[in-house]
Amino acid sequence: MNTYELFNEKTQAIVFGNQKKAIQRMLDFDYVCKRKTPSVACVINPNRAGYVKAFFGKKEILIPMYKTLDEAVKKHSNADVVINFSSFRSAFPTTMSALKKKGIRTIAIIAEGVPERKERILAAEAKKLGKVIIGPATVGGIAPGRFKIGNAAGTIENIIGSKLYRPGSVGFVSKSGGMLNEMLNVIARNSDGIYEGIAIGGDVYPGSTLLDHLLRFEANPKIKMLVCLGELGGLEEYKIVDALKSGKIKKPLVMWVTGTCAKVFKTSVQFGHAGAKASSELETADAKNKALKKAGAVVPNSFDDFGEKIAMVYNKLKKQGKIKEVKEPMEIPKVPMDYKKAIAQGLVRKPTNIVSSISDDRGEEPTYYNVLMSDLFKKGYSIGDVISLLWFKKKLPKYASKFIEMTIMITADHGPAVSGAHNAIVAARAGKDITAALSSGILTIGPRFGGALNDAARYFKHAVDSRMTPREFVDDMKAKGIYIPGIGHRIKSVKNPDKRVEILKKYARKHFKKTKYLDFALKVEKITTAKKGNLILNVDGCLAVLFLDLFESCGKFTKEEINEIVNEGYLNAFFVLGRSIGMIGHILDQYRLRQGLYRHPWDDILYLKD
Ligand code: ACO
Ligand code: LMR
Repeated sequence: MNTYELFNEKTQAIVFGNQKKAIQRMLDFDYVCKRKTPSVACVINPNRAGYVKAFFGKKEILIPMYKTLDEAVKKHSNADVVINFSSFRSAFPTTMSALKKKGIRTIAIIAEGVPERKERILAAEAKKLGKVIIGPATVGGIAPGRFKIGNAAGTIENIIGSKLYRPGSVGFVSKSGGMLNEMLNVIARNSDGIYEGIAIGGDVYPGSTLLDHLLRFEANPKIKMLVCLGELGGLEEYKIVDALKSGKIKKPLVMWVTGTCAKVFKTSVQFGHAGAKASSELETADAKNKALKKAGAVVPNSFDDFGEKIAMVYNKLKKQGKIKEVKEPMEIPKVPMDYKKAIAQGLVRKPTNIVSSISDDRGEEPTYYNVLMSDLFKKGYSIGDVISLLWFKKKLPKYASKFIEMTIMITADHGPAVSGAHNAIVAARAGKDITAALSSGILTIGPRFGGALNDAARYFKHAVDSRMTPREFVDDMKAKGIYIPGIGHRIKSVKNPDKRVEILKKYARKHFKKTKYLDFALKVEKITTAKKGNLILNVDGCLAVLFLDLFESCGKFTKEEINEIVNEGYLNAFFVLGRSIGMIGHILDQYRLRQGLYRHPWDDILYLKD
């Protein structure tokens, strides 16, 4: 690349700071320019390495993110631009280190408020090394059809409107970044557009000056005319006057110095930029405009006819054959609209992936099936009520909620020897955390342990609803070779009855309106225990038949709802919830006891060798 060109269609930048929006805007610009490679090589984020996700046209890409500039430069030796989004505090050291990197030619500093002393050091260092600093306090600049710094030129609509997807013949430089966007538009309407546009920033000591860029443009044969927007304050514009006078600038220059309105104020006014204040007559906009005009620049009468003057010079050059007609691209790639924006504008619709009917947290406070969280407490809801709201979308009568709570209490634990507790204990001793250890315990709940509720409810319901006698049921199951779910226990028996079952039966007899399924199950138990003492109605079986009785007799469930609960197998949820309490207890107990890794003794294993 020539020294007067900062950017081409292959230029890649290192973006200092994880500025997702600016990066996306750069890539969208790349896409409309039909760049083959993204203009962002990588990102620097001192806090975290990894990747930044962004769109390059329709494709999603991952841009590498490094913690240090050293690493970024090493991995992306082709990147010769640094766009420095670091704060005004760190802009100096980061720019200094970027200047020292061999491959870096251009650095844009976005931060406002960099101390002037530091700015002067940066400018001097850049000059010494033959590098270009754009800024501080700027949006940067743009090379249409090739490369764009960060947020320069604004939205994609702006970019297309000002035809920035292809180069024109005008070299433009201003102090202000906001005015850069405005001027891109003015120039596009009055000529074939810009070849390069730079905003040097509004500080007193910018890293590069208006003249620096005008001289680059002068040297660039692709640029046919110059447009510059100066500002009151400082003497920088007189250097341009000198350059015009000495013939360093030969190309036609249309230039306006803003701030002519300062004279209507009685005292010297500080405009938006740090440098925008006239401290002497020479620094006023009027004086500068006059001197420029005298030196040969085309100076409009006011900002209003800036565009006209640009058009005038452009048309003259065209007539002289110095500017050829630009070829407009056949088509400009359309940047796909972001999904969120399209949704907000009602342009697309999409089926939802999840349907939820039990709770909602979009309001000020969550609701549990239409009951506000605060009402749960104001109105004295119990944990049983919460379970029935979230599981069955109902508020049940008090005795029913109480029964749910009894279920949770009764199933909470049955000592460390049972499958679930054992697994949870072994996992805890293997160093697993609560979530993992609890999961390994819960996974044991199934048809033989704890999870017999589902099948017990299915079989007993079928037997009762199809009017089988208990004997027919037992014989039928025997004939099918199926153990009756809910019957039988490893240690409990007629002689050693299960207290939990006693408590549940007693409560149901007292509070339930009907106990049709329980009565049937007890008749089955009579038959099975006659065969063997341990074939009792176990806790799973008892809960299963009592929930059938509760659902049918409390008047809150339809037949269809009960069928769904039974057929889909919702009832095991009670054991899962209840037993989780105990399993967590066992896990915490193991942590507390600091028991080491569990290893099963060999003599407790029968080794089978074929
Ligand atoms: N229905 C009918 N007969 C049975 C049942 C049953 N549920 N369970 C055992 N038997 C019979 C067997 O056919 C066998 O008869 P046989 O001597 O004529 O061959 C005899 O009882 C012994 O069988 P085992 O398999 O040795 O019984 P064990 O006492 O080891 O089984 C168990 C206990 C695992 C609970 C068993 O009864 C069973 O699988 N029940 C169904 C599942 C169930 O309800 N599990 C929940 C248990 S409670 C809880 O986990 C909280
Ligand atoms: C339990 O509730 O875990 C027990 O009834 C099971 C068992 O094996 O004792």
